[in-house]
Parts: sequence; C-alpha cells; structure tokens
Amino acid sequence: MIYKFFYTLLGIIILFTINSEAQMNNWEDLKAAIDNEASKIESSVIEWRRDFHQHPELSNQEFRTAGIVATHLKSLGFEVQTQVAKTGVVGILKGGKPGPVVALRADMDALPVTEELDLPFASKVKTTYNGQEVGVMHACGHDVHTSMLMGVAQILAKMKESLPGTIKFIFQPAEEGAFGEECWGAELMIREGILEDPKPDAIFGLHVWPVPVGEVGYCPGPFMASVDNLKIKVEGKGTHGAIPWQGVDPIVTGAQIVLGLQTIVSRNVALTEGGAVVTIGSFHGGARNNIISDDVEMLGTIRTHNEEARVLVHKKIEQLATNIAKANGAVAEVKIDKIYPSTINNPQLTQQMLPVLQQAAGKEKVKKVLPVMIAEDFSFYQREIPGMYFFLGILPPGTEPDKIEANHSPRFFVDENAIPVGLKALSYLAVDFLLHPNGY
Ligand code: NI
Repeated sequence: MIYKFFYTLLGIIILFTINSEAQMNNWEDLKAAIDNEASKIESSVIEWRRDFHQHPELSNQEFRTAGIVATHLKSLGFEVQTQVAKTGVVGILKGGKPGPVVALRADMDALPVTEELDLPFASKVKTTYNGQEVGVMHACGHDVHTSMLMGVAQILAKMKESLPGTIKFIFQPAEEGAFGEECWGAELMIREGILEDPKPDAIFGLHVWPVPVGEVGYCPGPFMASVDNLKIKVEGKGTHGAIPWQGVDPIVTGAQIVLGLQTIVSRNVALTEGGAVVTIGSFHGGARNNIISDDVEMLGTIRTHNEEARVLVHKKIEQLATNIAKANGAVAEVKIDKIYPSTINNPQLTQQMLPVLQQAAGKEKVKKVLPVMIAEDFSFYQREIPGMYFFLGILPPGTEPDKIEANHSPRFFVDENAIPVGLKALSYLAVDFLLHPNGY
C-alpha cells in the first residue's frame, strides 16, 4: 500500500515537473529561467575565460580551445561537429518543440601580441610569427566570446524541452585571418556547409568593445567595413641620383600615386552612403641617398561600407595607379586581395531584436552607434542569412578617455562585469527569435 502511495506521489511529481517545463512556453517564463541559469554559471564562464586568456592560440591553431569547447558541448548532449574549417566546432541543440533555426557565433583565435597587462592569468605564451619572436594574446577579447557562448549553450540546454526550434552554436577559428591561405574562418566554415542542414533563419554575434561596461551598441545597416589588401609595385628605371633624367624615378611616381589615391575617397565615393578609406601603410624603395632605385613597393588597406563603393574604389585605384605611372614613363602593377565584405546588419532583424537587447542590458544602456571602419568576417554569414552583430561594452567604470586601450592593444583589458550582460543578450536573442521569428 505504502509503495502504491509512493509511486502515485512520484507520478504526480513527474507529471508536475513535465507540466511546469511544458508551461514554460512564454517569453517571460523563459526569460526568468535564463536569468536564473545565467547567475548560476557566471563564475564558471569567468573561469573558462581566464583559462583561455592564459592559453591563447593563433588563427587556425585553436586546438586546445576547440577541444575544451567540443567536450563541453558533448557533455550538454549536443550533436557536435569538430574540425570544421580546420579547428572550428559546431554544436546543435534541438529544442523539444518544432520551430525555426537560429545560429549564435563566437570566434576563438588570439593575436601575435605580447601581453603587457599585469593579470594573474596574463598570457606568457610565445611564438614565432613572420620570423619574429612575439607573444600571443587574446588582445581582441575572443576569449570572452568563446567562454560566453559556452555559457549560453549551458543555459539553453537547461530549458531544451521548452524551446521551439533549433539552436546552432558556431565556434569559429581564424577570424583574425590566416593570410597566405585562400580561404579561412567564417568563409571556410560556410564552404564546408555549416549554414545548411539545418539552415539557420538568422544569426547573432557580438564583439567586446571599449565602451562602458554594461552598454550594448547596435547599428542597423552597414556596421563595419569591408577590408581588402592592396599592393602596388611601380617599375621605373634605376640610375645615379645625380642624373635623374637618365632613368625613371619610381619614388617620385609612387609619391604621386599615393597623393592620387587620396582623391578616390574625397572625389569619387558617395560618402553619404557610407564611409571609405584608402591607406598606404608601407612604402619601400631604394637603399641609398644617391641611387634612384628600379622599383617601389607599396602596401595598403581598403575599407568601404558597401559593395558598390568597394567595386568603385578597386577600379579607381587600378586606373589612377597605372595611368599616373604611365604618365611618368613607369609601369604600375596593382594587386588587390579581397579579404572580408562589409558587415551589414539586416535592418528589419535589428529593429525586431532591439527590444530584446534592451531587456537584456537595460533600456538606457542600449545605444545606437555609428558604423566603424574595422572589419569582421561575421559579414560572410550575413551575406547568406539575415544577421545582427553588436558591441558589448567592457570598459571599467570611470576610465579616462586617454586611458582607453583599443582592441589589439597589448594592454587591452576586459571588465568581466560585461559577462552577465553578454550571456543574457545572446540567450534572449536566440530564444526570442525561436518564439517570434517574424517579430511580434
Ligand atoms: Ni576581434
């Protein structure tokens, strides 16, 4: 009799549990569950982040990081794919109910930068990069991105049965670039099919950024620039520095080309449609004061906010450089390597998700920001599916403006109080999108 009673009671408890899980089908319940889980795992996320920070790995060498990520996702019961685009990891969380598919992305790689911060978990890792002995550092905060997405995976796994749809967790290698290789990072992951089977209906991602901790920055439309590498080689004719009329001076020609390039952005690009930059960062030619060299080589970077401007700028660089050289009796050879397209936030999706970001960070903390000229390979996902990328503030309160250290600085510092905001923002975005893929 006592057993019968016990089993009935157990049955009621199980039913109640299933029921309470099944009842969690509205936004407010799920949001409360996310908040609760997020507060529980915050300290684990900080531990993971510090561990990644102390063990940074360069692009396409994220073996240790990817291993930790894959083990974590498997422990949560996800379907896990490893070695995607070399070291990438993709985890799939299937909710208990049918629905859309949403993707969340974090990048895992660090930079060849020698850390100057005096932190107990500062990186002491050294490597040889481009023939130089240099440190390795998470100077762009990808350690924070990776550990937060691991946290989000754990939070959402806890409410799996209540989720209407599927969440794809993308841990991407080589966002900082694997130059010399044809294709890497986001582009290679897409080539290897991560946006298929199932195809996400939307993708979200964030970048830590030196604005006050707790703030979230969003920007509908063009947010970050395209980036392309430029190389111009000017072939002149070497001669004695005292008899320039017997040669063709590639330095004077190169100097004219550098000045000529300045008119592309100021005279040709429709700047009201978005920004553009052409910078020559390296100019090499000659070895001695009284010798006119045979040639000059220039290296530069090209940034634009839309594809039309990108095509136009490339065409004008080619035209100007070759024709200025020709006018001087020299020959210019222009080589442009396309790196990343412009990061363009889908305007409808951004509008739709804005209230969710406001709930995650607090309404007054969510700020519309101006587009920037740095680049991100999140743009490749956004070319395939609607996506929204945003900034998460990491600057300690009261930081003086002249003490701000930019991403990639050897003193780049992340206030870890940003982590709870990031956990909530990504979790809210994923769940809200599954509940209301077309808005309210
Ligand atoms: Ni970065």
